Amino acid sequence: MADRSRIVISDEEIALQDDYARRVLEIQDSRMGHTRTYFIRTYGCQMNEHDSEQLAGYLVDMGYSATDDISKADLIVFNTCCVRDGAEQKVYGHLGVLKRYMAQNPNLIICVCGCMMQQEEAAKTVRARYPHVRVIFGTHNLYKFPQLVYESITGNRRIFELEDNPEGHIAKSPPVVRESGIVAYTTIMYGCNNFCSYCIVPYVRGRERSRDIEDIMRELYSLKESGAKEVMLLGQNVNSYGKDIQGASFADLIKKVDEVGIDRVRFMTSHPKDLSDEVLDVMAGSKHIAHHLHLPVQSGSNRVLEAMNRHYTVDKYLGIIERAKKLMPDIGITTDIIVGFPGETEKEYEETLDLIRTVGYDSAFTFKYSPRKGTPAASMPDQISEEEKTRRITKLIKVQDEITFRIHESLVGTTQKVLTLGKSKHDEGALSGKLERGITINFDGSDALIGEFADVKITKAKHNTLYGAVIDN
Ligand code: SAH
Ligand code: SF4
Ligand code: F3S
Repeated sequence: MADRSRIVISDEEIALQDDYARRVLEIQDSRMGHTRTYFIRTYGCQMNEHDSEQLAGYLVDMGYSATDDISKADLIVFNTCCVRDGAEQKVYGHLGVLKRYMAQNPNLIICVCGCMMQQEEAAKTVRARYPHVRVIFGTHNLYKFPQLVYESITGNRRIFELEDNPEGHIAKSPPVVRESGIVAYTTIMYGCNNFCSYCIVPYVRGRERSRDIEDIMRELYSLKESGAKEVMLLGQNVNSYGKDIQGASFADLIKKVDEVGIDRVRFMTSHPKDLSDEVLDVMAGSKHIAHHLHLPVQSGSNRVLEAMNRHYTVDKYLGIIERAKKLMPDIGITTDIIVGFPGETEKEYEETLDLIRTVGYDSAFTFKYSPRKGTPAASMPDQISEEEKTRRITKLIKVQDEITFRIHESLVGTTQKVLTLGKSKHDEGALSGKLERGITINFDGSDALIGEFADVKITKAKHNTLYGAVIDN
């Protein structure tokens, strides 16, 4: 891929944005007696969640502090997703509600950004139907956020920054306010080149760009220093890492990341067509790369996979799973599945059920196919009815639930290393944590364990979680 796909934001541009952030801060300081607060709502995937951490970083630089109460915020950001229609409809619904807050606080700045705003039609709709939205910008313009906030505060006009740039940018070490000090996200790749026939992501996130290895390593060493226990390397297709830059493959990268010494390293998402044997070898031989693979299969039918433009067969996929399990018998495998892709027959759908039984996934994200305007699948013949998609997904979820439960049951009696993430949301008094293979467990133990690893003996299996007790060493 040509070098121009890696437009690293220049030092001048970074300095300019720092300057805008400083100017906003000065304006805030001059408005005595009132601390400005922000609220960010994130839709969609980890990529968006991490972008929101970056937006929060800019906002803190500008003198804002976070609030949990959206009705009290002085600045609200909706970071949107458009991967399925449901995600878009949710955004429209929530935007309508915001009008009320505008009436309470006329100085409120409402910003809408993210993948949905990269689509011309959606951006136009928000512009026309929601006049209380003051700032609209796309994923390619995120690094300009301080400037957009400054212009909104000083200019008293609506701001639209939607310049499309499919080649995208790479921001070098932007400010980040992380949601958790225990588990951190680090982006290693931006964009996607795969153009799966159902998917909007390549259109709204631009082409693949790998982040410089030195930049990634710097961030990881600093995360280690600040006490992070787990890191998730992010990209739409992490296995393509390095294809657009010379010198390092994804296998090379995770080998280096293993040396940093952060206790647990995960990565997502892997694409079966690009997952190399070497990556599995590095995982198996590593100290810190978790034995967990999120490997979306999408369908168990070769015909559907071809129509989806996925570039692998069921046999090739099962070959990867077999090799991974041989090298790492304790590996946890998770996946994404779409039902009701145009033309999917009952027999082809049954093949997906057969596949999930063969693989034995720890869990699966399941989706009803949602036509996305501008993607090839949206205009394919034989679209499946909503009722039929619902029938197919309901049965799929039931089959997968039984598989998940069986795997959970097989773990009862074993002792596992658990990273304690916090208090359980559902079980009062209990802690919640994660096994290396990614399964959530609730267990009794002291709050002092939060952020620490504990040896936990699994005592009980339920459909979505495990229960256990800390073993005293
Ligand atoms: N880059 C990742 C994930 C992309 S989006 C990957 O390639 O696996 C996450 C999941 O959403 C996809 O894996 C797919 O299962 C689902 N998805 C994407 N577009 C969809 C659509 N139009 N309808 C239904 N599900 C979709
Ligand atoms: Fe979408 Fe396919 Fe790219 Fe994943 S690999 S983001 S499903 S186009
Ligand atoms: Fe959604 Fe964009 Fe992620 S479309 S799934 S937020 S890349």
